[in-house]
Amino acid sequence: MLEQMKVPHPIPYQGSKRKLTPAILACFPPGSPRLIEPFAGSAAVTLAAAAREKASRFVIADLNAPLMDLWRAMIEDPDRITDQYRKLWHGQADREREFYDEVRDQFNKARQPEHLLFLLLRCVKAAVRYNANGEFNQSPDNRRRGMNPETLRHEIVGASRLLKGKTQVAAGDYREVLEDARPEDIVYMDPPYQGVCGDKDGRYIKGLSFEDFTRELRLLNERRISYVLSYDGRANDKVYGKPMPGDLDLFRIELDAGRSTQATFLGKDVTTYESLYLSPAMAERTGKVDTSRLTRRAQQTTLFDDPPVIEWPRNPIYQKSS
Ligand SMILES: C[S@@+](CC[C@H](N)C(=O)[O-])C[C@H]1O[C@@H](n2cnc3c(N)ncnc32)[C@H](O)[C@@H]1O
Repeated sequence: MLEQMKVPHPIPYQGSKRKLTPAILACFPPGSPRLIEPFAGSAAVTLAAAAREKASRFVIADLNAPLMDLWRAMIEDPDRITDQYRKLWHGQADREREFYDEVRDQFNKARQPEHLLFLLLRCVKAAVRYNANGEFNQSPDNRRRGMNPETLRHEIVGASRLLKGKTQVAAGDYREVLEDARPEDIVYMDPPYQGVCGDKDGRYIKGLSFEDFTRELRLLNERRISYVLSYDGRANDKVYGKPMPGDLDLFRIELDAGRSTQATFLGKDVTTYESLYLSPAMAERTGKVDTSRLTRRAQQTTLFDDPPVIEWPRNPIYQKSS
């Protein structure tokens, strides 16, 4: 049965929302015609939404064009890309470090999807990093050889089954992608945000300006677009990212994203929280947030102590963010 199906996740990606997908999906109305994900990365939310039949069609897009070429390759021809990966994976035997550097050079020259796939599976923290010239410059994680090709095949074939024939893949800025959004669509946005994954540390090829982004959100509100946005977060009391302006009338939910592995490693006990914002149109349309999905601690998607959400929609007063 689809409900029990394990959601495939072919590419590891720093900042992936994989663990939070049950909580994010609980905010979507059932049976939407189309889900648009303009900051797709590893497309964790789209894959989960497809597996849980939250929408019938999908748009995944990202500014990182080679990543979207990789998505096209995985969806359209999963066997071919898996074979290409298998060859690379075996080719690294006993000279892993030099081989990684060669693949990285090849990727920087020709931007082939199989090379990016190999790099994503072998690089430190699955973190895509580009230098000022737009060259991939992340180092290999020398403790790992990358996902076993058979395991990866299973994940890629699973993703292709879910998305093939119903997914448009696009490379570009989120604003271009959102021009096409319609009120009956749902939109999930997970932009890089200041502090945790902004421009400064080079984690993404390009960051985005807070002012441009909030201007876009105002336009989306005027167009009555239903969107869910992941934006700011906090680790214990340290807050990352500016809160969303109050005039946007967004409904805010804070999710417990679990303990910070990095802090645990350093012997500290730090819990991280992430905010989800629902646009006014989305909040009205959803009608009811499935709170049972939001309170399951075991899945690390616990709704943080935010009573207005439990009350809602009996008392649908949007909690303004400032
Ligand atoms: C936090 S990550 C998204 C992670 C994703 N939710 C997942 O589960 O893997 C943010 C993504 O936004 C992309 N990005 C950055 N600036 C962008 C822009 N102006 N337009 C579209 N995508 C952008 C980055 O390449 C990155 O993949």
